[in-house]
Amino acid sequence: MTLLNDIAATGGRNGGSGETLAIRGGRPLRGRVEVKGAKNLVTKAMVAALLGESPSILRDVPDISDVAVVRSLLEVHGVRVEDGDEPGSLRLDPSDAESAHMEEIDAHAGASRIPILFCGPLLHLLGEAFIPDLGGCRIGDRPIDFHLDALRKFGASVEKLPSGIRLSAPGGLVGANIHLPYPSVGATEQVLLTAVRAEGVTELRNAAIEPEIMDLIAVLQKMGAIISYEPNRVILIEGVSKLRGYDHRAIFDRNEAASWASAALATDGEIFVGGAKQQEMLTFLNIVRKVGGDFDIREDGILFSRGGTLRPVTVETDVHPGFMTDWQQPLIVALTQARGASIVHETVYENRFGFTDALVKMGANITVHPHGLQDGPRRVPRRNLEQAAVITGPTPLRGAEITVPDLRGGYSHVIAALTAEGQSTVHNVGIISRGYEKFFDKLTALGADFDVVG
Ligand code: UD1
Repeated sequence: MTLLNDIAATGGRNGGSGETLAIRGGRPLRGRVEVKGAKNLVTKAMVAALLGESPSILRDVPDISDVAVVRSLLEVHGVRVEDGDEPGSLRLDPSDAESAHMEEIDAHAGASRIPILFCGPLLHLLGEAFIPDLGGCRIGDRPIDFHLDALRKFGASVEKLPSGIRLSAPGGLVGANIHLPYPSVGATEQVLLTAVRAEGVTELRNAAIEPEIMDLIAVLQKMGAIISYEPNRVILIEGVSKLRGYDHRAIFDRNEAASWASAALATDGEIFVGGAKQQEMLTFLNIVRKVGGDFDIREDGILFSRGGTLRPVTVETDVHPGFMTDWQQPLIVALTQARGASIVHETVYENRFGFTDALVKMGANITVHPHGLQDGPRRVPRRNLEQAAVITGPTPLRGAEITVPDLRGGYSHVIAALTAEGQSTVHNVGIISRGYEKFFDKLTALGADFDVVG
């Protein structure tokens, strides 16, 4: 079966848009799931292929809809994307890369923010780039000011149009000194993808250093880039005039691995996450241990289970090496089953606790405090985004009718429904296919009792 056609070929069973599941919960999830390449690396490495003068091969590409979105965006820019030489690999050939129309980009981008990362490579390749719909809610909801400020520093001019923004750099881009106001993952990637072929040296301060960024640096080094990182979040990039294609196996998806780990804790099950590795998950594993969960690190993956009675924890999300914001939603489902009051303090995004309303409807005791908790000074300065959720457990969950809001919140709703006694109807589960490959097959393999009903 052709990679990325799975969703269509399985009749949407692994997550087309807007599906509804009837879930009969109360059974522990037991079994084995495999995680592939990280969504947060794969999509960026695909964009990096635009910078090469020869084709690139990316391995362990997950069959998720975010990958399909980037594939079509590359294709509208003239990149030939085909299956590679082994299952789950892609060959990306940028030799005929060209400008695309704003409407085409818009039509393929959907809700994705990936078009922003095309800016640097397209400016190098074609001298111009478009980002659709900047004023609309899709991109406007999550700001791109760091990205645009950085691109201006490289010498790009930014023109706001009614339908989006147009960037141009007919004379080429030059290295810059950039200090990010916050170690944004996307803005760090923007700088890397732009600086590698800019003329001269770029110094990036307050950079994000997530493992997926380190893997992107590895990809770029394979392409011929010269990038070094120094203490205290400083990355130096010496621009080169030419890059070639790469052959790279993507780092595993630690977010998916953490999600299944939380599912094992929540449902009192036992899940072996094939492909999960310890190093990139140290912070998460510490929390699993503190909460009373059990894990067994093996050569080919990690086995997660509930060691005994779950205990409450206090967790603050942060940039790497802190506790990742994407891990908190599945963990909160497990914390509804812990004995006592847990606190999860979100410092990366606003509005990441909306999904808890559905858990409350199912019987969880969760209070969200809009202004967060007072605390001492932080390495990453506080911004005005904090929110804290206090989860008091254990509370039995009961089936309910719920609609999933987003990727990680949606996953958490499904896990909550599987933890709950009785039947739940969960709408809009298709969104989960953005980040979880073969989601329904994995649930089935773990013994989940559910039907696709709409
Ligand atoms: C990436 C990840 C996402 C993860 C997040 C934080 C991908 C596809 N997504 O998202 O899973 O949760 O990192 O680890 O890799 N910000 C601004 N202005 C900007 C850019 C960001 O204010 O120009 C703010 C954001 O609103 C947010 C914070 O910075 O509050 C962090 O965002 P960022 O690190 O950029 O996240 P993404 O790259 O979008």
